[in-house]
Amino acid sequence: MFEHILYEEIKDRIGLLKINREKALNALNLQTVSELNKFINEQLPGENLRVLIITGSGSKAFVAGADIKQMKEMSKEEFHNYCNVSHDNFNKIQNLKIPVIAAVNGYALGGGCELALACDIRIASDNVKIGFPETKLGLFPCWGGTKRSSMLMGIGKVKELIFTGDMISAEEALKIGLVDKVVKQDELMDEVLSMAEKISNNGPLAIAYAKETINKGQEMNHSGALDLELKMGVECFDSLDRLEGMTAYLEKRTAEFIGK
Ligand code: CAA
Repeated sequence: MFEHILYEEIKDRIGLLKINREKALNALNLQTVSELNKFINEQLPGENLRVLIITGSGSKAFVAGADIKQMKEMSKEEFHNYCNVSHDNFNKIQNLKIPVIAAVNGYALGGGCELALACDIRIASDNVKIGFPETKLGLFPCWGGTKRSSMLMGIGKVKELIFTGDMISAEEALKIGLVDKVVKQDELMDEVLSMAEKISNNGPLAIAYAKETINKGQEMNHSGALDLELKMGVECFDSLDRLEGMTAYLEKRTAEFIGK
């Protein structure tokens, strides 16, 4: 059905989405962003899915950015449409009810770094080169990168990365909070899967509520965010999953959550 993205449920309730343009280092051309849009709109979150993993095909790149060959020929209107679709994709990934883990495997540049930033958690392999090279092309990150990176990192680092266009190593990205964990390249998928499995065994409703509360809280003032947390926490308490989780604990058995 799709040419530039691949999707499979690799384990029970865990989906793996691959950007699949290995020869172009998985650069997000127009076809890829529209396939992503169709996939996200029509197939996510998926009935039983608890965690989505996003990665790039091959061992060299997660995503090397927007497609420079195509962008070079675009009119302003065409570029606007291209950006709109990518914004829609990344906003929907950010707001999915299930957690999304980026398995960052190699170059994560420009729009690729922005895709990783739209995910909830970023696990990087030790060969990662990540950054925003757009200013070297006379552009700046405009697929959510200025804002989402500023939510994770100090504003000075954001500006340094964007103004210099430097690619940084996985270790440096870890130090500044741009990625959350670094593992050896050949251990990346095991590490990501082990985290995904842990998450998939926990209460899906609680996780969805926590994700929404954390995300919305970022855009609120302190007391507004705490009010939201209180409201969402009480709503979550009033669920079958909460009852099951506590009953299972007291009965010393594994909880069977149903997401209600
Ligand atoms: N767009 C289109 N094609 C790309 C690409 C991109 N972003 N990145 C890599 N490719 C293509 C290369 O053109 C090359 O194709 P050909 O074989 O047909 O020439 C192929 O992928 C392999 O790449 P290289 O031969 O360059 O591989 P390398 O190992 O020598 O270098 C690299 C790897 C350092 C990542 C280099 O490819 C590179 O600098 N790529 C561009 C990265 C970039 O600037 N990304 C930001 C794009 S702008 C953006 O994303 C805008 C936005 O936020 C809105």
